[in-house]
Amino acid sequence: MSKPILFSGMQPTGKLHIGNYFGALKNFVDLQNSGRYQCYFFVADLHSITAEFVPNQKYRQTLDVVADYLAAGISPEKSVIFVQSQIPEHGELTWMLNCITPFGELRRMTQFKDKSLTQKENINIGLFDYPVLMAADVLLYDTDVVPVGEDQLQHLELTRTIARKFNAQFKKIMKEPEPLLTEVPRLMSLSDPLRKMSKSMPEGCLFLDDEPEVIREKIKRAVTDSDAKVTYNPTKKPGIANLIRIYRGFAGLSIKEIERKYADANYGIFKRELAEVVVEGLRPFQVRKKLLLRKPSEIDRVIEKGRKKAQKKATEKMDQVKLVMGLTKKATPKKMA
Ligand code: AMP
Ligand code: TRP
Repeated sequence: MSKPILFSGMQPTGKLHIGNYFGALKNFVDLQNSGRYQCYFFVADLHSITAEFVPNQKYRQTLDVVADYLAAGISPEKSVIFVQSQIPEHGELTWMLNCITPFGELRRMTQFKDKSLTQKENINIGLFDYPVLMAADVLLYDTDVVPVGEDQLQHLELTRTIARKFNAQFKKIMKEPEPLLTEVPRLMSLSDPLRKMSKSMPEGCLFLDDEPEVIREKIKRAVTDSDAKVTYNPTKKPGIANLIRIYRGFAGLSIKEIERKYADANYGIFKRELAEVVVEGLRPFQVRKKLLLRKPSEIDRVIEKGRKKAQKKATEKMDQVKLVMGLTKKATPKKMA
């Protein structure tokens, strides 16, 4: 029996922060290493161009995400790592799915509504169609499970709806993917602990590439709460609770253990030690990433290896799609040939 197929990816839109790491990337690595799945991890560069972008930076950003994947522990031997725009079938299947997706379904998508407000001057059709491209990504590889954050659940639900619709209208060849929601910590902004750590507010982010001095400075300045005890109370003390969660992520201690360890400490001491835990925690990743970026040809080789594997699967699926939609001629039976 072959293993269930797991598929996920990230957009190349700039540096990853530790929220992305604990919320997504680390989870990818753990799922890969569980050995339970056949994994595909891709870079969603076509999705990323639905927002403003600088053309001569895009491919560098793609390489950077691949370097992040590799440095974090995604292995080209165990997983298929590839770039979306190198497989033309993603766009091709999107068109087929567009023609069975009701306009009204897309108009309901909360991400589209949110982004229409944040990028008012660039509400393009690609932004509207973003969820259908995501459905094509997932359906093209006969995906069983998709690890995603909560914000992408609505898109995955739409993917399932589109798969059912396709199956009912043509032939049952689309697998309905399941979301894989693992318990992941939500990290908050260092400068405003009531808001999610997000690259739209870079001053509140710890980036995976931040130098030790930058990490120390950011943690020193992190917003905390009025009383001075290191205790975990996300509603009353969101600032320190967030720092404790960061500590837990890197040190592998439980919240109780951290509270006990710092029972007699003030915020200053706790922050200083947290900074060292983060610096040391990120060091192996940063060393691996620097080495990789010094050899871009190696990253290119990984991408090319992934492209070949993904292309094989995508070609097969697209042939099947065209056949059941009646766009291509049925294979001629042997005896008539
Ligand atoms: P984004 O860059 O916001 O598109 O996020 C990429 C991935 O990282 C998604 O799976 C998010 O759910 C996850 N993520 C982003 N920000 C955070 C955060 N502050 N805490 C936990 N996970 C996050
Ligand atoms: N939209 C996802 C995000 O912003 C990225 C993505 C695109 C994706 N296609 C996907 C994730 C398919 C999982 C499966 O995080």
